[in-house]
Amino acid sequence: MSADHTPLVFSGMQPTGNLHLGNYLGAMRNWLKLQSSYRCVYCVVDLHAMTMEFDPQQLAKASREVAAAYIASGVDPQRSVIFVQSGNSDHAELAWIFNCVARVGWLNRMTQFKDKAGKNSEKMSVGLYTYPVLMAADILGYRATHVPVGDDQKQHVELARDIAQKFNNDFAAPGFFPLPEPIITGPATRVMSLRDGKAKMSKSDPSDYSRINLADDADTIALKFRKAKTDPHPLPESEAELEGRPEAANLIAIYAAFQEKSRQAVIDEFRGAQFSMLKNALADLVVAKLSPIADEMRRLLGDQAELDRQLREGANKARAISGPIMEEVRRVVGIGR
Ligand code: TRP
Repeated sequence: MSADHTPLVFSGMQPTGNLHLGNYLGAMRNWLKLQSSYRCVYCVVDLHAMTMEFDPQQLAKASREVAAAYIASGVDPQRSVIFVQSGNSDHAELAWIFNCVARVGWLNRMTQFKDKAGKNSEKMSVGLYTYPVLMAADILGYRATHVPVGDDQKQHVELARDIAQKFNNDFAAPGFFPLPEPIITGPATRVMSLRDGKAKMSKSDPSDYSRINLADDADTIALKFRKAKTDPHPLPESEAELEGRPEAANLIAIYAAFQEKSRQAVIDEFRGAQFSMLKNALADLVVAKLSPIADEMRRLLGDQAELDRQLREGANKARAISGPIMEEVRRVVGIGR
């Protein structure tokens, strides 16, 4: 990379559906750790949530919930910038400019569009197709250098690098935009469904038993772990024995992640035991970690005026970073006066 850029972390999460343990371990918990070493900008990407069918009231509600979840998890609005994407219109403007930089061939290679559209690509919104361009605008609008994401988003960060490179080359100079690096947070924290150890824990899984929601109470959490799918064997004595046992591997990984221990340490703790032992310990541990977060989320959502005020303040801080960058962008493409 040519010009030096001040390190800056940017990440975002869509306000769609139920936040769950996988979002916490895979995203928020990493984000809050990054706060001590980087300047961080964390966004609730409501414009991205409009790319699939959505209900306006739900969108507004879920946006506040996700913002509250960030803060309740320990992402600190004093240290980091926390805001809702639509609160800073620079994202939408830069996305348009990038729509004129990115090539149709590049977007045709994006696997997420194919996964989401399936056989119905003709009926999907144009927004879904250009979703990765908006994501590039999110990142580059702050000249972010590091982007913590799950491995399913790596291709989108690579597209942001391609857009940055072409923009620099066509209109500006090497190093005008940094080439952002993904910080891949999986697979150690890639949490799988409690009903199927081969599928990712997902907001949209029709079975609520597949996931632990951040809002679940202690009894629900215990019940979901009790009902979690297992196999008929006792718990393994070594990591090698987890081969072909995705459900056991997942429960052990969740326990290890919350305890901040290695999988091997957890295996040593439970070697040869019945699943019920691990499940009980897991329920206690997860309740202890998540219930303070759920309580704090409820408290934050109880005072909507105050939460909205914090988010407006966050949007102002976001604009203070992106605004001067946008002025340069407009100038170099000939639309700034
Ligand atoms: N596409 C990301 C996801 O679904 C969310 C997202 C939008 C994002 N903009 C971003 C993540 C910018 C990182 C940086 O997970």
